[in-house]
Amino acid sequence: MSSAELSVFIRAIGVHTPERKLTNAELSKMVDTSDEWIKTRSGIGERRIAGPGENPSDMGAKAAAKALERASLTPTDVDLLIVATMTPDVPFPSTACLLQAKLGLRRDIPCFDVSAACSGFVYALQVAKDMMRSGAYRRALVVGAEKLSSVVDWSDRTTCVLFGDGAGAVLLETTSEKNVGLLGNLLGADGNNAELLHCVGGGSAAPATADSLRDGKHFLRMNGKEVFRHAVRVMAESCERVLSKCDVKSEQVAWFIPHQANIRILEAVASQLNVGMDRFPSNLERYGNTSAASIPLALEEAWTDGKIKHGDLVLIVAFGAGLTWGATLLRWHEPTR
Ligand code: UT7
Repeated sequence: MSSAELSVFIRAIGVHTPERKLTNAELSKMVDTSDEWIKTRSGIGERRIAGPGENPSDMGAKAAAKALERASLTPTDVDLLIVATMTPDVPFPSTACLLQAKLGLRRDIPCFDVSAACSGFVYALQVAKDMMRSGAYRRALVVGAEKLSSVVDWSDRTTCVLFGDGAGAVLLETTSEKNVGLLGNLLGADGNNAELLHCVGGGSAAPATADSLRDGKHFLRMNGKEVFRHAVRVMAESCERVLSKCDVKSEQVAWFIPHQANIRILEAVASQLNVGMDRFPSNLERYGNTSAASIPLALEEAWTDGKIKHGDLVLIVAFGAGLTWGATLLRWHEPTR
């Protein structure tokens, strides 16, 4: 059988979120905000906050271990690891290498990070799929793991209310079955709008100094209104384009699993696609925006809640800093429990 015939599907999925919950009521004691403002403008009720020793590689390793356990596989069965994160444990080495060591994956496999912010999971899925379809890798772990609480300015009410920490992992596997798993995909980016959502300090262009720390250059900054506008347009367009590429109508899609950024963004995208919110599951209320972790978290929840069923068409779509975006159409193959 030629490797071009291989499909790639999600054999198992696992998640991990920190125990600590930070509620809107607590936040309103930290900055000038209210539960009412946060809920109305974003749909967020609370978010999870990682503890001091709890890093993306730790949360990602737990999510990945859960996926492996559900698949009745061991770490040595994994042939490839890709971690999507915008909050790596350290500038280098990659979070993937740290996770590899924590999980006990083999040493003869590629392990690397993908940096595409909130679109990272969708980007990483596509990279994994293309590497696997060559036949060189049978099983891959794709992990989205974030500790946004470490880059949020807790005195900036326009951003600190939105983000949270967590991780989700999928175990991908190749199969000769047709029309299953990752069917079609679209990725895009617009670096001309990089400044709409960025962190200017701490990299090689502006290494951390006492002054940069004092000026808060290592924190995430965002032009929320502009990001909102781009997010709605690009997520709706990405869905339409990937559906047209796959010759599928939006009515045929059972579930849309969007990056969980803001409930009003989801509502606007659903409305542009003429799809009811009952097909746009959201966990924003409990987790906020967890960047690259948000899609696997929402996907796992929609599946464990009994929403997504074997054979369903599922469309995942993301948008984030870069700017970046991406969408993937999946034919759901019931993962092992
Ligand atoms: O993963 C992708 C990353 N990011 C996103 O997707 C975020 C996209 N943007 C958004 O979600 C929204 O733009 C926000 C939730 C960030 C803001 O909502 P908005 O409806 O665009 O509000 P706004 O920025 O226009 O602010 C309205 C008012 C302002 O006061 P004035 O100027 O009208 O007096 C803000 O200062 O609300 C004020 N405000 C707040 N008030 C209470 C901003 N943040 C807060 C806050 N609590 N936390």
